[in-house]
Amino acid sequence: MNILGVSGSPRGQRSDSRRLVERVLEGAEAAGARVELVDLGDLHIEYCLACDSCHARGTCSRTDDVVPLKEKMLAADGLVLGSPLYFNSVTAQLKTVIDRMADVIHCQRFLGKYGCSVCVSGGPEHEIGTSYMNSVLVRLGCWIVGAVGATRSVPGSFEEAQHDATVLGHDLVQAIQEKRKYPEQEIIHAEMRERFRQLIILNKDRWPHEYEYWRDMKWLG
Ligand SMILES: Cc1cc2nc3c(=O)[nH]c(=O)nc-3n(C[C@H](O)[C@H](O)[C@H](O)COP(=O)(O)O)c2cc1C
Repeated sequence: MNILGVSGSPRGQRSDSRRLVERVLEGAEAAGARVELVDLGDLHIEYCLACDSCHARGTCSRTDDVVPLKEKMLAADGLVLGSPLYFNSVTAQLKTVIDRMADVIHCQRFLGKYGCSVCVSGGPEHEIGTSYMNSVLVRLGCWIVGAVGATRSVPGSFEEAQHDATVLGHDLVQAIQEKRKYPEQEIIHAEMRERFRQLIILNKDRWPHEYEYWRDMKWLG
């Protein structure tokens, strides 16, 4: 079982949200998973150009570090996203990586994976960050196991979150092992499937790669 952590903070080893990702990975490793951390601060990341190449041909026109990162994410059984809260959202680094997942969402390629997220904020709103990251993961097809957040200005909040993050890592592995299902997320998965089914049919000629993927999956109905 492979669990991949992705840290979106630009602060490298000084980052508190990266430390929470590390705690989740430690919990997952102790529960028997193979784990890897990718720090987006170490990568060369370019913007999505909305060129349609991924939809039409299945390949990205960019040749940066997001291309192999995406392959790693596709190969993982579990994903841990981490970011500080920046202006009530995730960092630009993580958002830019998410924007590069346009074909992943159209083809629901994270179906069957499990995910969770962690966020650290200066004020009390870290849940805005984890809700956003988990809403992205579930719409890409993941089952969401949970979230952990901390407020830097509240004494004890980060320490508690570090403990909770380790527990979350353990639970992530358990959810994967028992193939846990979440009925409320099943509804979102079904909505996404129908939304993208209609979109793929509508764009059959523009996006032959995605149309073929859907046909091969026997999802066109
Ligand atoms: C550009 C920028 C924007 C920020 N925006 C917010 C914000 O909207 N809300 C908040 O509570 N904290 C905000 N913060 C504070 C960070 O979320 C906080 O310092 C966090 O602990 C940093 O996490 P890190 O150590 O993982 O980088 C912001 C910090 C920066 C540098």
